[in-house]
Order: sequence, then structure tokens, then C-alpha cells
Amino acid sequence: MSATSPVRPVLPPDIRARKGGAPLVVLTAYSTPVARLVDAHCDIVLVGDSVGMVIHGLPSTLGVTLEMMILHGRAVVRGAQRAMPVIDMPFGSYEEGPEQAFRNASRLMAETGAPAVKLEGGQHMAETIAFLTQRGVPVMAHVGLTPQSVNTLGGYKVVGRDAEAAKVMADAKAVEAAGAFSVVLEKVPSGLAGKVTRALAIPTIGIGAGVDCDGQVLVVDDMLGLFTDFRPKFVKRYAELGRAADEAIAAYAAEVRARAFPAAEHSFPDVLPSKEKK
Ligand code: KIV
Repeated sequence: MSATSPVRPVLPPDIRARKGGAPLVVLTAYSTPVARLVDAHCDIVLVGDSVGMVIHGLPSTLGVTLEMMILHGRAVVRGAQRAMPVIDMPFGSYEEGPEQAFRNASRLMAETGAPAVKLEGGQHMAETIAFLTQRGVPVMAHVGLTPQSVNTLGGYKVVGRDAEAAKVMADAKAVEAAGAFSVVLEKVPSGLAGKVTRALAIPTIGIGAGVDCDGQVLVVDDMLGLFTDFRPKFVKRYAELGRAADEAIAAYAAEVRARAFPAAEHSFPDVLPSKEKK
């Protein structure tokens, strides 16, 4: 990217302007081919730190590094012509303070070409979000269940029932006031997510937060049935690609063992048929 690179067709102010309109459609992607598929149908393509679990086999998102996000971010930006790419800031890359967050967010943007980053946290991240947004880094915030805090939250539980509801509302209002252009609500009860959505002027993007959010996001490997280690209640499987891949690989293995593959049409004859010689 240079200062003269064409600006992307969808930028954070366009997403912000979608508040209350047609639902925003968001999926994750981690590679160029999947980004191309997502690009054809979605408004935002999120390079989530879920990449650590669904692609790299890590037990949580805590082991994801800035270098991993840059590598996958570049691949996704190459495949997303229209949908807006957003890159997750990994655990440990922003929590120390605003300067650390700016240093790493600006690397993510400069080295991938993505026009926005996402980071987890509510009121305690407001100062950092304000610092970033005032310096040219558009921020998608993420409140409710924040998976990078799984150890302090005590698991991947619903966040915002009973007395916790006021904190989720306060977190969402704080990230909005700090300048976030949208906010992910993860694993928040539906009624509360609706209240938060009505209380904010920026779009809410739900994952396990009911139908009243301004948009929805899912992890693409979950909804395609490619990641099958576990299935959260909020995931709907729109395909069973993992099963289809398993059947295809089993068929290939059987044919190789039976010497049924490769067949003649997959092989090169020693002498070309005469009419093809010309
Ligand atoms: O990492 C991720 O994929 C995410 C989404 C689930 C919102 O943060």
C-alpha cells in the first residue's frame, strides 16, 4: 500500500452508516480462496484470532501472534475485493497501553492493507480505542464474552445475565464514546443485545447475541462444518464440508490402494496419438 493506492470500496464510515439498516453480514476468513468466497456475499471479512484454533489447532486464541495475523491478514486482503477486511489484534499486542496498541495496530494495517482492526474489551479499553481512532486506526470493539480473557472469565460462558447486564451496557457505551465504528457482542443474552443495539448509534454485530443486532458474524469453518472439535450453541451449520472432505479423502485412499487411481485419463502416454501430434 502507498499513499496513492486506491481506497477500498467499503470503509469504516460506510459500515457505521449502516446502523439500523439492512443487517450487516460478516464472516471470518484466513486464506485468499475463502476470502474470495466470503467477498461475494458479505459486507465485512474478519480475520479473527479464531485462526489459532480453527487453522493452527491451538487450544485457545491466547497463542496467536502478531506475525500470524499479518500473514493471514495479507492473504485475506488479497482475496477481498469489495467486503471490508478487519484484522483482530491478538492477545498481548494491545493491553499494555495505547502506545503499544498503536504500534501494533499500525503494523497490522500497513503490512496487510486492511482498513480496520478489532480488539477485545469494554470500559478498560476505552482510552486505548480513543487513542487509536484519533490517530487514523478505525476500531471494531468486542464486548460480552471476550475469548482472550477466558482464564479470568472462568470459561466461555454467557456474559450479561442478571447483575452483569449493566456492565455489558456500560462497556458497549464506553467503546462507542471512545470512537469505535462498530462493536461485536459475543454470547450476550438476546434481550440485552437488543437493548444495547437500541441504545447505541454504532452497529452491533452479534455472535450468540440474538436476532436484534445490526449484523451477525460467524466463524466460517464453524458454519461450513470444517471445524468439528466442538460446536457452540450459537453456530448453525450451513454445510457439512468436513464430512464431504472425509468421504473424498477416504475414496482417494481406497483407489490408490486398489491401483484404481490414477486412471488412463490422469496419465501421460509415452507416444501421442497421431492426430494430436500436429
Ligand atoms: O476471532 C474471531 O473469529 C472473532 C469472532 C468470533 C467475532 O472474534
